[in-house]
Order: sequence, then C-alpha cells, then structure tokens
Amino acid sequence: SGEDGYRLWLKYDELDNTKLKKAYIKQLSGVYLDASSATGKVIKQELELALPALLGKPLTFNTKADNASLRIQLNQSPSALISGDGFSIQSQGKHLNITANTQVGLLYGTFHFLRLVQTEQSLAKLDITQSPKIQLRMLNHWDDLDRHTERGFAGESIFDWHKLPDYKEQRYYDYARANASIGINGIVPINVNSNALILSPAYLQKVQALADVFRPYGIKVYLSIKFSSPQQLDGLATSDPLDKQVQQWWQNKTAEIYKLIPDFGGFLVKANSEGQPGPGDYGRTHADGANMLAKALKPFGGNVLWRAFVYAHDSEHERSLQAYTEFVPLDGQFEDNVSVQVKNGPIDFQPREPFSPLFGAMPQTSLAMEFQVTQEYLGFSTHLAYLGTMYKEVLDADTHVKGTGSSVAKVIDGSLEGHSLSVMAGVANIGADRNWTGHIFGQANWYVLGRLAWDHELSAEQIAHEWVAMTLTHDVKSSEQIVAMMMASRENIVNYMTPLGLHHLMDTGHHYGPGPWVDNLGRADWNPTYYHRADDFGIGLDRTSKGTNGVSQYAPYWQEIFSDPAKTPDELLLWFHHLPWDYKMRSGQTLWQELVAHYYTGAAAAEQMQQDWLTLKNNIEPNQFNQVRMALAIQVKEAKWWRDACVLYFQSYSKMPLPMGFEKPK
Ligand code: GCU
Repeated sequence: SGEDGYRLWLKYDELDNTKLKKAYIKQLSGVYLDASSATGKVIKQELELALPALLGKPLTFNTKADNASLRIQLNQSPSALISGDGFSIQSQGKHLNITANTQVGLLYGTFHFLRLVQTEQSLAKLDITQSPKIQLRMLNHWDDLDRHTERGFAGESIFDWHKLPDYKEQRYYDYARANASIGINGIVPINVNSNALILSPAYLQKVQALADVFRPYGIKVYLSIKFSSPQQLDGLATSDPLDKQVQQWWQNKTAEIYKLIPDFGGFLVKANSEGQPGPGDYGRTHADGANMLAKALKPFGGNVLWRAFVYAHDSEHERSLQAYTEFVPLDGQFEDNVSVQVKNGPIDFQPREPFSPLFGAMPQTSLAMEFQVTQEYLGFSTHLAYLGTMYKEVLDADTHVKGTGSSVAKVIDGSLEGHSLSVMAGVANIGADRNWTGHIFGQANWYVLGRLAWDHELSAEQIAHEWVAMTLTHDVKSSEQIVAMMMASRENIVNYMTPLGLHHLMDTGHHYGPGPWVDNLGRADWNPTYYHRADDFGIGLDRTSKGTNGVSQYAPYWQEIFSDPAKTPDELLLWFHHLPWDYKMRSGQTLWQELVAHYYTGAAAAEQMQQDWLTLKNNIEPNQFNQVRMALAIQVKEAKWWRDACVLYFQSYSKMPLPMGFEKPK
C-alpha cells in the first residue's frame, strides 16, 4: 500500500461494507449543485473526488434540482435556525437537502455529509442542523519566513515564502481542504515571534497569494506582527502606540493590506513577552497597544488577537500569576474587535495545568482560547498523545465565576458574558512531512481542535471515533481498541512526565527530555527547581495564601478547594501545595509512594500501548502501521527515561526506598 498519511482524514478509500455501499449508491443517484461561485467549484471538486472513490461508481450531476437525490443549495431567504456558516442536512422524500445561508455553510454541510459516509452512518431520515459555537476557529503557525518552524516537529514549514506569490503548491489547497472539512476559518501562517518583513510590500504580495488560495475554502488569513514595525520597516523614531505618526503608520499599512486582501482577518500580537517589543517599551499598556491596531482594523472589519502570554524577568510575582496581574486591571479598556488570547493554563502548555484564572476574570473582554496542538511539552511528534481529552478537560472546567455552570467553554464562546467575538486557536503541529504532523496520531489533534472549535459539546471520544474511521480503519474491534488507546494516552504522558500537578520538569531549550535538576539558568523562572521545590521536607509549589497566593486568582469556590490539600484533586496537588514526602494521600499511600507509582504506571502504559498496537497489524495499512509502531518504540524508551530520571532525582531528596513492586531503575 502506498498510504503514507498525506490524505489525512480525507482518504476516501472505497467502502468495503457492500451492503451499505449499495444503499448509498441508491440514495445518491444524482447531485444538484449550483457551482457558479468559487466555493461552489470547491464543493463540486470535493464531491467528484470523494463519492466515486468511496462508492466505486462515477458520480452524476443533474442540471435540475427536481431530478437530483442530493441537493446542495443556499436557502432562498436566510434561515433563522442557522447562524453564521452553519448548515442543515435534511431528508425529504427521496431527496437529501444540504442547505445553508452562505456558500461556506454549504461547503461545511458537504464535508459533514461526506463524514457521514466516511464513518458509515445511515443517510436515512436525516435531520441535522448545526451552527458553529465559536466564531473564529483558527490555526496559529509558529513558522518563520525561512521555513523553520518554532516548536514544529514535522519537518519544515509548509509555506514556501521564497516561491510565493507565483508558485502555489498543491499542498496549500490540500491544507485548505483539510481545514475547511473541520470548520477552521482563520490561519496565521507566521510565528508569534514575528518578523517585521512580513508587512513589507513584497511579502504582502505573497500573503495575498495565500489568501487567494484559501478564500474559496472560507479561510481568512491573519498576520502576526512585530510591534516595532513602524521603526523597522520605515525608520520611524518610535513605535509608541500613542504617537500620532505611529497610529497613522498602522492605518496606512492596514489600508494597504486590505487593498490586496479585502477579507484580511487581522493581527495576532505577542508583545512585551520573551523579548518581543510592545507598548510597555513606552510605558503604555497592552490595551493602548491593542486599541491602536483595533482602530486601524475596525473600518475593514478586522480583529486583533492580543496574546496574554506574558511574564517578566524580575517580577515580584511568581510566573503563573503574571498574566492575570497584568491583564485583569485592563478589563473594560479593550475595543470590541480585540480578543485577548489566553493559553489554556497559567504557565505554558504543560502536560497538565489547571485552567488559566484569566478565564472568567475579565467579563468585559472577549477572551480567546489558545491551545497548543504541536506537542512542545508532550513528546514532540514521537509520543502518542491524543489531546482531545486535554482540550475537553479545560473547556469543561467550571470557573464558578457566575455560579455553577460558568464553564471555560462558555467564557470562550461568549455566552457567559454576551460577547459576540469568540475565538479558539490552536498552535499548529503541521509541517512538510508527508504525513503533515510527523506522528500519524498528531493528525487527530489537528482534527479535534477544529471539531471542538465548531462544537465544544462534542465528546473527545466521539471525535476520536470519527477520526479513526476516516483515517485508520472501519473494523469495529480495532477502532474500539485504538480509541481506548487515544483516550488514555495523554494521562499516560502526564504520569511518566509530570504527575500529581508537577510541571515544568523538562530540560532546557528543546523542552523534550527530563531535566528536573536544572537550577542554573539565567532566569529563576526558567529553572525546573523553581516549580517543583523538592527538598528534604517534601515537594511541590505552595500557591496558597501562605505561599505565592496563586489561589487568590480563582473564584472563591476554587480558592477554598485549592487552598486545602485534602480538597485539592490529586491531579493538581503539587501545583498548589508543598507537601511532605510522607503526606498521606487519598489512597492511603504516602506521597512518595504514589509519586513513584504514577511514574511506573505511566511507563508501563506506554509499553502496553506498544503491545496493543502490534495486535492491530492486519487491520491497518502497512505504512501507517509501521510509522506508529516505530514511534511507539521510541516512546517506550523515553517514558522509562522520564520515569527513571525523575524518580531517581526526587529520591535524592525523599531518601525513601522505592515502594514494593517497583523495580529499581537500572
Ligand atoms: C513558549 C515556547 C516559545 C514560544 C512561547 C509563546 O515559551 O517555548 O517557543 O514562543 O511559548 O507562546 O510565545
């Protein structure tokens, strides 16, 4: 088999369930579609690619709607049951109607219909109506202009700026198809550690070429910008957001962009963070900076995504407190086309963090969710980690800011405080590797990000099932087994890397292997020892009122829980507490025993996954099977590496023997 993962979940291999295939063929005798628009053409292309391949039979298009069994049409007048680019798929006698209020809605409806076929669902008596719960569903690429991808583990960037604007790779179109199929409607092709050059006239032409490719797929392009662009590109004396000339510069630049790209999405900004320039350089606030850009974009309908990932070098506040400290006082000051983009947790995409306390704490501001799809701290593209469970854990977390039911998802989708601008972004794990994401299972993380941005009420398990059916196998037993592996996979990694609320134990710079002992970096808050605080007494970072008081940033409901080790969930225990090695856990074991048990359980689970995968050999295409098999072998080795490094290091403080049943690491 030549299957190498390039086709992602849009594989469209012929269905081998002959009974079902026959039923589909009967139901799909002819298609009516008005393909006059650019998006209409894309829909037609996708149907022509998918249906003959899935059904093993040529596809007929009808010129009249009456004769067609599948009809894809805009609503005569907009349906109030559908919002934005939502759609309906409805059975009507022998017809199946896909309707929407927009062309892009029809494209989404078509992809949903294809998903039903790909996942072998019945097409009888369909009555589906869906609208996106989140308005901007985005991928953020951390790709530099020279094809290097920061924290990218799947080869070079897919964006070849050298050959743009003239050379439009087929890959751009396939990327757009994949994104549209899961409802992603915005992309930032370049790194948040931005390069001012992107706003130069020559590069804007390249951006225009990408925007032209993506437009029919309903995808808008946004750009990461460097706050010092006025100085760097045009030699202005300052980039102070309150300076009239600077404001004018951004207005002119914005107008120049919209001339080339009438549907340009807006700007993503990392400012005054990790060395990036920003309004703070001039004594101005994040709101001053964001609003200057927002005002320039507003006449054109563009948005500002202003990142809250900030932590200062010599701050008196412990790192996890800083985004809240800096941003909460600015609540109410941001223009309404600004969304403040917050990482899911208060530190930095660790295998597990509590939800960021910013969610719920800025009621007058649109808050965007930033998830990381690329596995910077979860074993790059060699460890199998299905992140659907992690995304759901965060989205379902209840902030309690307005009583029970104030979930993070409701903060993000705008429903809790009545914001119309809503955003979910994922830092992309996509690169030029044949299979796009390095690890075949990395594709599932791209997939689940899009699906949850569309509908955060879907379950991680349901989405995993869809993805497996579309990507790997229809065999029921194998699918069950694979989905079970996926569902447990992230927790396994937490167990062998950072169990019980530990975090930031990775080695310096690359963030790959373990480095809990590192204590000599230029900044205290880069050292793992700053976070785990292991000593002869015990382990963990006290974030109660007796410690850094991180708990104070959460709603009273959580303050009470997080302040008390007996109430704090085990998963977050050492995030909030510094506890003695012989602390009695819920299980009755000591903290030391339990810590070791987690490390061993995690590493054992990696081995189990490896064995389980081997049993699937006959139901998975050989290339896919082998890619995963080889990656799992690496993961097993490295899970032990993490386990042994951490257990032996912490043992040098606990000075306790390994509990019974665990072999001594060699
Ligand atoms: C992390 C990551 C950086 C990235 C930064 C960010 O610190 O390691 O590579 O630039 O997050 O989100 O801005």
